[in-house]
Amino acid sequence: MQIMSITFEKGDIHLLKEIVLLNESVFRGMYEHEPYSLDHYTERLLKVKPVIYIAKSGNQIIGDAISFERDGSLYLWILAVSPEFRNRGVASTLFNLMEQHARDNGIGSVSTKVYNVSKEMLRLLLKKGYNIVAIEEHGSHPKYNAIHFKLSFLKSNTF
Ligand SMILES: CC(C)(COP(=O)(O)OP(=O)(O)OC[C@H]1O[C@@H](n2cnc3c(N)ncnc32)[C@H](O)[C@@H]1OP(=O)(O)O)[C@@H](O)C(=O)NCCC(=O)NCCS
Repeated sequence: MQIMSITFEKGDIHLLKEIVLLNESVFRGMYEHEPYSLDHYTERLLKVKPVIYIAKSGNQIIGDAISFERDGSLYLWILAVSPEFRNRGVASTLFNLMEQHARDNGIGSVSTKVYNVSKEMLRLLLKKGYNIVAIEEHGSHPKYNAIHFKLSFLKSNTF
């Protein structure tokens, strides 16, 4: 039996098709809306400079993180790990890569927005020391409330 190791690398928009295929399966049924289509990703990322990291097992993408700079922070827009590869630190490593990218590029914080349905992500963010900075209430069900998190690298109390 051969155990494939997981590798991490910087990605780009040429990988979007494969990334979206993975993300469609990860996000299906999680939110009120259908998982975003390839067109949606392409359109959204056209207006920004995306920072993409992927995790691979062999040649297969098994995790991805997509972020871009927004309001002076590196905003983590999407984070997904294939169910078979969870709880092995894949998301934590993708986070570390994003945080390092922010630091290396003089961006003072990483921020993200998570819905209540995403318990694993909420746990991970709290464990990693992210602060809750805002909550957006959803009209019909609290499970769709959005919780905004931020990790600031600045030593002062500036958020
Ligand atoms: C949220 C998500 C990305 C986490 O991915 P993951 O790769 O399983 O995350 P990690 O392995 O880094 O961390 C998960 C847990 O495993 C633990 N862990 C990390 N490395 C580990 C290791 N080597 N061995 C055992 N456990 C480990 C972490 O501490 C964490 O513990 P916790 O559940 O107590 O918080 C994944 O569950 C997912 O894709 N969920 C669906 C999509 C989603 O919700 N995305 C976020 C919203 S955009």
